[in-house]
Amino acid sequence: MCALDYLCLMDQLIKELNQYKSEIAAEKVTDKITLEAFRIKYLGTKGLVKSSMALMKTVDADKKREAGQLLNEFKVFVETFFENLKTTFDTDNNNQQKGLDTTLPGYILPKGGRHPIGLVQDDILEIFGRLGFAVAEGPEIEDDWHNFTALNLPDDHPARDMQDTFYINKNPDWLLRTHTSSVQIREMEKGILPLRIVCPGRVYRNETISARAHCFFNQVEGLYIDEKVSFADLKQTLYFFVKEMFGDDVKVRFRPSYFPFTEPSAEMDISCLICKGKGCNVCKKTGWVEILGCGMVHPNVLANCNIDAEKYSGFAFGLGVERITMLKYGVKDLRLFSENDIRFLQQFKSAL
Ligand code: PHE
Repeated sequence: MCALDYLCLMDQLIKELNQYKSEIAAEKVTDKITLEAFRIKYLGTKGLVKSSMALMKTVDADKKREAGQLLNEFKVFVETFFENLKTTFDTDNNNQQKGLDTTLPGYILPKGGRHPIGLVQDDILEIFGRLGFAVAEGPEIEDDWHNFTALNLPDDHPARDMQDTFYINKNPDWLLRTHTSSVQIREMEKGILPLRIVCPGRVYRNETISARAHCFFNQVEGLYIDEKVSFADLKQTLYFFVKEMFGDDVKVRFRPSYFPFTEPSAEMDISCLICKGKGCNVCKKTGWVEILGCGMVHPNVLANCNIDAEKYSGFAFGLGVERITMLKYGVKDLRLFSENDIRFLQQFKSAL
């Protein structure tokens, strides 16, 4: 008889157990009740695993080992299957006990906001963008050439002291840029003219931190090089910027100044928006606040970048983003911009 034949018996057992396995895998267990029905059907005292084990009694002694292994493997399969289902429903159950409804939508996290410096920088770039100025950026760790020498500030030039520089110990030729004029040099060196760029970025100066000064701050510098660019172009460009940024009522004045890389040079003041010209700490009681330095690019600078100063001329300007932001929003202390106090920053939340 087949059942007593060793090979035939084992074959039949394997086939049967496989069949059970696929039946088990197809069982629809959807909740605690069907889970319990599953347990009774397969793992209960009269369940399939127990009755399969009973088969052992009918197996001859010399075949018991193999048959035992097969049945044991089947038992482990059913138990593992059951444990996995149980974990699923137990987790759901735990959540319900804790008052969690996993079908509810998640919490809505509050929206973050942009930093006021970033917002104002975007405004500045957008205004100059309308006049055709493209954005150019460069490295914050600069070499002496791009930050000083090419800008008509050779080694022994006294004006180097105007900007207290952080040098990098490793290499005396490296420094943290003191202005983004270095980016203008990098762009001019590319030799593609005409050039009309604005250079935003963080700059560093070794200054004592106070309400009016910081050892790092943000600048936007501009540069326009073409044939026949004049000081009148510079003034009109800056007038346009001030009107767009602060409105029609603000007054503007230019004062002669000195920068090694521009000639002639000027500084531009606007009427103080904080005290409306009456005099306050921000305008040092003068009613005017300086917002930028500017001038016609010095011929030496053009020559350092291999630009023909006979054919081309240009203007440059540099403004501090913190100063503009303080005036625009009435902020009286520069340190607020770098302290990350959420109560301060929250006020500038913009729709993202
Ligand atoms: N680089 C100058 C500064 O940081 C600003 C400036 C730029 C002045 C361009 C004139 C022309 O102070």
